[in-house]
Amino acid sequence: MALQSIDPTSTKAWKNLRKNYENSKGNHLRDLFAADPNRAIAFSLQWNDFLVDFSKNRITKETLALLLQLADEVDLKDAVQKYFSGDRINVTENRAVQHTALRAKKTATVLVDGENVIPEVYEVKEHIKTFSEAIISGKKKGYTGKPFTDVVNIGIGGSDLGPEMVIKALQFYKNHLKIHFISNVDGDLVHEVLQELNPETTLFVIVSKTFTTQETLTNATTIKKWFLKQAQHKDIADHFAAVSTNTKKIAEFGIAAENVFPMWDWVGGRFSLWSAVGLSIALAVGYDNFDTMLSGAQQMDEHFRTAEFDKNIPVVLALLSIWYNNFYNAETEAIIPYSQYLSRFSAYLQQGIMESNGKSVDRSGQRVDYQTGTIIWGEPGTNSQHAFFQLIHQGTKLIPVDFIGFKKSLHGDVEHHNKLMANFFAQTEALMNGKTPEEVYKELEGLKLSEEQIQKLLPFKVFEGNKPTNTILIEQLTPKSLGALIALYEHKIFVQGVIWNIFSYDQWGVELGKHLAGTILKDLQNSEIADHDGSTMRLLQAFKS
Ligand code: F6P
Repeated sequence: MALQSIDPTSTKAWKNLRKNYENSKGNHLRDLFAADPNRAIAFSLQWNDFLVDFSKNRITKETLALLLQLADEVDLKDAVQKYFSGDRINVTENRAVQHTALRAKKTATVLVDGENVIPEVYEVKEHIKTFSEAIISGKKKGYTGKPFTDVVNIGIGGSDLGPEMVIKALQFYKNHLKIHFISNVDGDLVHEVLQELNPETTLFVIVSKTFTTQETLTNATTIKKWFLKQAQHKDIADHFAAVSTNTKKIAEFGIAAENVFPMWDWVGGRFSLWSAVGLSIALAVGYDNFDTMLSGAQQMDEHFRTAEFDKNIPVVLALLSIWYNNFYNAETEAIIPYSQYLSRFSAYLQQGIMESNGKSVDRSGQRVDYQTGTIIWGEPGTNSQHAFFQLIHQGTKLIPVDFIGFKKSLHGDVEHHNKLMANFFAQTEALMNGKTPEEVYKELEGLKLSEEQIQKLLPFKVFEGNKPTNTILIEQLTPKSLGALIALYEHKIFVQGVIWNIFSYDQWGVELGKHLAGTILKDLQNSEIADHDGSTMRLLQAFKS
């Protein structure tokens, strides 16, 4: 069954949230903390080795209660049940949304169109295991009998961002295989990467859910040609694997049947790293680590599915995001992991969040008259502190930030880790408290500046503070905690989509550009240019001249 269509702005909670916003927008977080010494306890959640502190948000207990009421009024409970039970909630593509089935336990039953998909999921997992283990151990060899040294993942969007992000995140757990990513159709990238490779010892994994994506097929074809300059056609069987729902197209490309990994249309590209799309992850860190990551996600699924909404991390974080997006008119959210390993985490979430919730038509087909999908951005701390934090601290825009940090580092360098985490905690404190004119005055007075100098400098040194942050403090970056962290944001996306009354699992917005690129490619290849607007026409003429 499809999700219900309920306009969130028609709910009682929404109207009361508006009032709550009007009454509370003048509050300063400093005062909220002074008024309630237990605030950090009331507004935090402990789940397994995750501590999520959301007390540094511009909310009162009443705000949170109203946000939770909003979730009830749009019947989030019913939506969650449909999400997990294989209903075709991706209505515009007529598909179920079952990436959670990919990490379900072997004993689970997940019905898609009346059929339990778990045995098939586990069959593919077994294939990922045997294949990756044979490559890592050197049992499976290249066409000249040498073990593999390099793996190239050829894919784009969800067929690239997830594996790339995870392999960077789990670098500590990596084996000897060097993993490369070719996504962009920019030929300079392919040729740069190929320069580093020896065809005798390189495995190519072509990942494309549809196997029709121009970028991926162009890159794969270029690579195949390069490979065949040295190897023979029969050697493709040893060096190319493919992951796709489109097994017919894979066969046409010449991939040997034993190197074909199926995918399912009930898994969206941006949620697919848990499937064979994650083959390069299993190759990089070994199947056991890959599987442990899946089990971390499965635990988060269980938490999301069963915890009461007020104790439910994805639900609470989604509601807070809605609070700023729809009441404070905040347009963007920053995600700042204090771990260099998570350097691609925000880029990965950009696709997950913005491709899912960048919609302006509601589930009844009407244009919405409220804001939906947030803009996501971020880079690891502390680097970002020395780049764009100025704007978060003293700019004119309100930017809620998620801070993600770990109690223990992986290499165990306590001196470094304490410095890293001192910055982590200092930033959320500084963003919240800011610095008052009185504090600045005292500081400048202490520097023995004249009254005139103090008055001149003072306005520039004041920090308003009152900047909202969530702190997600996790024990350590492990395959398990990473799996749970990714799943947390996946469920946050779902909750927001439900509340905004949009369809989160299609992506029609990327089609028009693809179509036009096809038309323009003909203009570039042919002598005649078809009719375009004046600007595009002039640019095409300049390009061809
Ligand atoms: O164009 C967007 C998109 O469809 C993404 O949703 C998807 O992850 C990406 O392209 C790649 O698609 P495919 O895996 O089918 O090549």
